Amino acid sequence: MDLSTTIAGVKFPTCFMNASGALCVTREELFALGRSRAGAIVTKSMTVEPRVGNPEPRYYGFPGGSINSMGLPNLGYRAYAELIPDLKQFGKPVIASIAGLCEEDFLTMARVINQALPDLIEVNLSCPNIPGKPQIAYDPADSERLLKRVRPLITVPMGVKLPPYFDPAHHAVMAEVIRRSGVDYLNLINSVGNGLVVDPKRETPVIKPKGGFGGLGGSLIKPVALANVRAFWKLLEGHMPIIGTGGVARGVDAFEHVLCGASAVQVGTLLVEEGVAVFERLERELREELVKRGKQSLEESRGKLRELPG
Ligand code: SIN
Repeated sequence: MDLSTTIAGVKFPTCFMNASGALCVTREELFALGRSRAGAIVTKSMTVEPRVGNPEPRYYGFPGGSINSMGLPNLGYRAYAELIPDLKQFGKPVIASIAGLCEEDFLTMARVINQALPDLIEVNLSCPNIPGKPQIAYDPADSERLLKRVRPLITVPMGVKLPPYFDPAHHAVMAEVIRRSGVDYLNLINSVGNGLVVDPKRETPVIKPKGGFGGLGGSLIKPVALANVRAFWKLLEGHMPIIGTGGVARGVDAFEHVLCGASAVQVGTLLVEEGVAVFERLERELREELVKRGKQSLEESRGKLRELPG
């Protein structure tokens, strides 16, 4: 069963890949993704300067999910610009994720990273974990201005990673921004920002940064991720490729993302929990799901979520 997929003209050998953030900061981690069954190598969202990130503890896994406030620890864009040509040896697409701390940062990084020729560049407008920096994608005007300035600097397909939206009016406004801004694909969703997980024994939050507030991931956010994939798939009339991110723990979760309209899926929490072996398991489980349903390919099911009768 062929699990390959195409996004904005770029062919991926399988539809599973890492979510930017999970095990993709260092050269060693990126090479491990290259050697694994992952269908792409996605870099950690990079900033202009290298960052150590937020104080620890900054990640906590619990049954059903995780909370993180990593604070964009990364090597800085110059290091990734040097690394990207080496990552191409693995024969799978390389996605470079950029996350500026201000608008100019995105332009600075886009110019240089574009020259390193990753297969796609992803503009992350949705990191919830930088104290004092609101998530850009919750401001449609700022997002549109930024995307329109970045777009001409990029010659490969450009994606945007959005945060979850919780109201159809917000989906509609952002879909129009996306339509007008030269975006080639969407990545939906980043973590559900600013959750709070409490340890009742110690009577404290489980992570340190931002008073314990952090981005939620894992199975508990799957319904939010699916709703966003579905909403944008419909608003953009099935013409915008979507990477579904959020709650992919089993093959059937990936199948649900595909039914809602995703062309590929990313794995964050489960990659942290299981390591790169997770991709082989997910591939096997998705194949079983498709065979069980008599499907020949992912394409047959993409976007085909049925309405309840009556
Ligand atoms: C982080 O590094 O804090 C997470 C990255 C993101 O949410 O974009």
